Amino acid sequence: MIRIDVLTLFTEMFDSPLAFSIIKRAKQNGLVEIVLSNIRDFAKDSYKKVDDKSYGGGAGMVMMCQPVLDCLEYVQKSTFAKATADKQDSRPARIILLTPQGKKFDQRLAKELAAEQRIILIAGHYEGFDERIRISAGAEEVSIGDYVLSGGELPAMVIIDAVVRLLPGALGDEDSAANDSFSDGLLEYPQYTRPEDFNGLKVPDVLLSGNHKEIEKWRKQQALEKTKKNRPDLFNKSKNSD
Ligand code: ADE
Repeated sequence: MIRIDVLTLFTEMFDSPLAFSIIKRAKQNGLVEIVLSNIRDFAKDSYKKVDDKSYGGGAGMVMMCQPVLDCLEYVQKSTFAKATADKQDSRPARIILLTPQGKKFDQRLAKELAAEQRIILIAGHYEGFDERIRISAGAEEVSIGDYVLSGGELPAMVIIDAVVRLLPGALGDEDSAANDSFSDGLLEYPQYTRPEDFNGLKVPDVLLSGNHKEIEKWRKQQALEKTKKNRPDLFNKSKNSD
């Protein structure tokens, strides 16, 4: 059982993505507990203020330390659901700030997080976080890619999805995560399903041959070609490039 906390100003944004498919099943089967906390509930003034102008000037508002850190403290003190409380160990939570300034999220980090017991994701809105939030929380900064979104909610959902599907028992077929793109440093090979002929486009003969050795060879070759074409950066890093 892994517990994932999300600190956000928009808890409702998570309702639908967490209510379907693999994540829904993983929650029902007790593989993951996902807890949403609203940072605004921890604002102290009567306006429920959570952001303020940036020192030094510049456009945009910055998330203030106090509401975020109070929310984090509250969440860290709260424990697992009773049923799993006895299975806890003493590992500290991984605390992650979602920001475009972070290190890039990838399948390797997803695997690392899937082995944790507790992850706390902090999703900001506005122009970013007061730097002292990162320092005080001992948080790592993570970005899901080189583009700027209007908040950390979608990135938090991306991370939750990528992590939960890696939890043992989350996928129907244990093999399906092992063959995923990136799991061996390459993109996945192309796939085909019925019909054999779609508007004159035929399924490659080898896939119909029943020759598993040949199929495996073809898939490896296709994975290499696709990676070389679409992701030369990955191809050059892979051991297959030399
Ligand atoms: N917040 C805004 N853009 C982001 C990104 N690309 N990754 C993570 N958090 C973000």
